[in-house]
Amino acid sequence: MTTITKSQPTTLLDAAQAARENSYSPYSHFKVGAAVLTDDGKIFSGTNIENSSYGLTVCAERNALFAAVGTGHRRFKALALVTQKIAGLKFNSPCGACRQVMSEFLAPDTPVYIAVLDGKKRTCYCKKFKELMPFPFEKFTEK
Ligand code: THU
Repeated sequence: MTTITKSQPTTLLDAAQAARENSYSPYSHFKVGAAVLTDDGKIFSGTNIENSSYGLTVCAERNALFAAVGTGHRRFKALALVTQKIAGLKFNSPCGACRQVMSEFLAPDTPVYIAVLDGKKRTCYCKKFKELMPFPFEKFTEK
Protein backbone atom coordinates (compact mmCIF):
# COMPACT_ATOMS: atom_id res chain seq x y z
CA MET A 1 0.00 0.00 0.00
CA THR A 2 1.57 3.29 -1.06
CA THR A 3 1.12 6.26 1.20
CA ILE A 4 1.19 9.80 -0.02
CA THR A 5 1.30 12.67 2.43
CA LYS A 6 -1.15 15.54 2.18
CA SER A 7 1.44 17.94 0.80
CA GLN A 8 3.12 15.58 -1.71
CA PRO A 9 0.64 16.04 -4.61
CA THR A 10 1.14 19.83 -4.50
CA THR A 11 4.92 19.48 -4.20
CA LEU A 12 4.90 17.09 -7.16
CA LEU A 13 2.71 19.39 -9.23
CA ASP A 14 4.98 22.34 -8.38
CA ALA A 15 7.97 20.33 -9.64
CA ALA A 16 6.12 19.46 -12.85
CA GLN A 17 5.13 23.08 -13.35
CA ALA A 18 8.72 24.25 -12.79
CA ALA A 19 10.01 21.67 -15.29
CA ARG A 20 7.45 22.90 -17.80
CA GLU A 21 9.24 26.25 -17.82
CA ASN A 22 12.17 24.47 -19.52
CA SER A 23 9.99 23.01 -22.26
CA TYR A 24 11.71 23.09 -25.64
CA SER A 25 8.65 23.27 -27.87
CA PRO A 26 9.26 25.74 -30.71
CA TYR A 27 7.13 23.67 -33.12
CA SER A 28 3.96 22.98 -31.15
CA HIS A 29 4.27 25.80 -28.60
CA PHE A 30 2.68 23.32 -26.21
CA LYS A 31 4.60 23.19 -22.96
CA VAL A 32 4.32 20.12 -20.76
CA GLY A 33 5.94 19.40 -17.41
CA ALA A 34 5.93 16.11 -15.54
CA ALA A 35 7.27 14.81 -12.26
CA VAL A 36 7.38 11.44 -10.53
CA LEU A 37 7.57 10.63 -6.84
CA THR A 38 9.74 7.63 -6.01
CA ASP A 39 8.81 5.15 -3.29
CA ASP A 40 11.60 6.62 -1.15
CA GLY A 41 10.24 10.15 -1.49
CA LYS A 42 12.45 11.64 -4.21
CA ILE A 43 11.10 13.74 -7.06
CA PHE A 44 12.34 13.64 -10.66
CA SER A 45 10.96 15.95 -13.29
CA GLY A 46 11.04 16.32 -17.06
CA THR A 47 9.65 18.39 -19.86
CA ASN A 48 8.85 17.88 -23.53
CA ILE A 49 11.80 18.30 -25.88
CA GLU A 50 10.95 18.70 -29.54
CA ASN A 51 13.05 18.30 -32.65
CA SER A 52 12.90 19.67 -36.19
CA SER A 53 12.55 16.02 -37.15
CA TYR A 54 9.20 15.98 -35.36
CA GLY A 55 9.06 12.26 -34.59
CA LEU A 56 12.14 12.55 -32.39
CA THR A 57 10.25 14.65 -29.86
CA VAL A 58 10.17 13.14 -26.39
CA CYS A 59 7.26 13.87 -24.06
CA ALA A 60 7.59 15.29 -20.57
CA GLU A 61 6.31 12.13 -18.87
CA ARG A 62 8.93 9.89 -20.45
CA ASN A 63 11.71 12.37 -19.72
CA ALA A 64 10.68 12.51 -16.05
CA LEU A 65 10.36 8.74 -15.71
CA PHE A 66 13.61 8.03 -17.55
CA ALA A 67 15.48 10.53 -15.35
CA ALA A 68 14.31 8.56 -12.32
CA VAL A 69 14.77 5.08 -13.78
CA GLY A 70 18.17 6.04 -15.17
CA THR A 71 19.38 6.86 -11.68
CA GLY A 72 18.22 3.55 -10.26
CA HIS A 73 14.62 4.13 -9.21
CA ARG A 74 12.04 1.52 -10.12
CA ARG A 75 8.99 2.09 -7.93
CA PHE A 76 6.83 5.19 -7.90
CA LYS A 77 4.10 6.56 -5.67
CA ALA A 78 2.66 9.13 -8.05
CA LEU A 79 3.10 10.99 -11.32
CA ALA A 80 2.07 14.58 -12.01
CA LEU A 81 1.56 16.37 -15.28
CA VAL A 82 1.02 20.06 -16.01
CA THR A 83 -0.20 21.36 -19.36
CA GLN A 84 -1.86 24.49 -20.59
CA LYS A 85 -5.58 24.95 -21.09
CA ILE A 86 -6.86 23.97 -24.52
CA ALA A 87 -10.24 25.44 -25.42
CA GLY A 88 -12.94 22.78 -25.29
CA LEU A 89 -10.84 20.25 -23.38
CA LYS A 90 -11.14 19.57 -19.67
CA PHE A 91 -7.55 18.33 -19.47
CA ASN A 92 -4.88 16.60 -21.53
CA SER A 93 -4.20 12.94 -20.82
CA PRO A 94 -0.74 11.48 -21.32
CA CYS A 95 -0.22 10.16 -24.87
CA GLY A 96 -0.49 6.46 -25.58
CA ALA A 97 3.26 5.96 -25.88
CA CYS A 98 3.82 7.51 -22.45
CA ARG A 99 1.07 5.41 -20.91
CA GLN A 100 2.72 2.26 -22.20
CA VAL A 101 6.08 3.39 -20.77
CA MET A 102 4.37 4.23 -17.47
CA SER A 103 2.83 0.75 -17.38
CA GLU A 104 6.32 -0.66 -17.02
CA PHE A 105 6.83 1.16 -13.72
CA LEU A 106 3.51 2.36 -12.26
CA ALA A 107 1.22 0.02 -10.33
CA PRO A 108 -2.44 0.10 -11.45
CA ASP A 109 -3.60 2.13 -8.43
CA THR A 110 -0.86 4.77 -8.71
CA PRO A 111 -2.38 8.26 -8.71
CA VAL A 112 -1.74 10.41 -11.76
CA TYR A 113 -2.33 14.09 -11.10
CA ILE A 114 -3.20 15.99 -14.26
CA ALA A 115 -3.19 19.75 -13.95
CA VAL A 116 -4.26 22.40 -16.39
CA LEU A 117 -2.90 25.92 -16.29
CA ASP A 118 -5.26 28.67 -17.28
CA GLY A 119 -3.24 31.82 -16.76
CA LYS A 120 -2.10 31.51 -13.17
CA LYS A 121 -4.94 29.21 -12.17
CA ARG A 122 -4.02 25.53 -11.85
CA THR A 123 -6.84 23.00 -11.85
CA CYS A 124 -5.94 19.45 -10.93
CA TYR A 125 -7.66 16.16 -11.76
CA CYS A 126 -6.64 12.86 -10.24
CA LYS A 127 -6.92 9.52 -12.02
CA LYS A 128 -5.68 6.10 -11.06
CA PHE A 129 -3.16 4.83 -13.61
CA LYS A 130 -5.41 1.87 -14.42
CA GLU A 131 -8.17 4.29 -15.49
CA LEU A 132 -5.81 5.82 -18.05
CA MET A 133 -4.34 2.50 -19.18
CA PRO A 134 -6.69 -0.41 -18.52
CA PHE A 135 -5.05 -2.95 -20.85
CA PRO A 136 -1.31 -2.29 -21.17
CA PHE A 137 0.86 -4.55 -23.26
CA GLU A 138 2.56 -6.78 -20.73
CA LYS A 139 6.03 -8.04 -21.16
CA PHE A 140 6.71 -11.60 -22.03
CA THR A 141 8.33 -13.48 -19.19
CA GLU A 142 10.00 -16.82 -19.74
CA LYS A 143 8.92 -19.61 -17.40
N1 THU B 1 3.43 16.01 -25.19
C1 THU B 1 3.89 15.65 -23.97
O1 THU B 1 4.94 16.12 -23.51
N2 THU B 1 3.19 14.73 -23.28
C2 THU B 1 2.05 14.11 -23.73
O2 THU B 1 1.52 13.23 -23.07
C3 THU B 1 1.47 14.52 -25.00
C4 THU B 1 2.23 15.50 -25.79
C5 THU B 1 4.19 17.00 -25.97
C6 THU B 1 4.84 16.47 -27.21
C7 THU B 1 4.94 17.71 -28.05
O3 THU B 1 6.14 18.38 -27.71
C8 THU B 1 3.77 18.57 -27.62
O4 THU B 1 3.34 18.04 -26.37
C9 THU B 1 2.62 18.59 -28.59
O5 THU B 1 2.22 17.33 -28.93
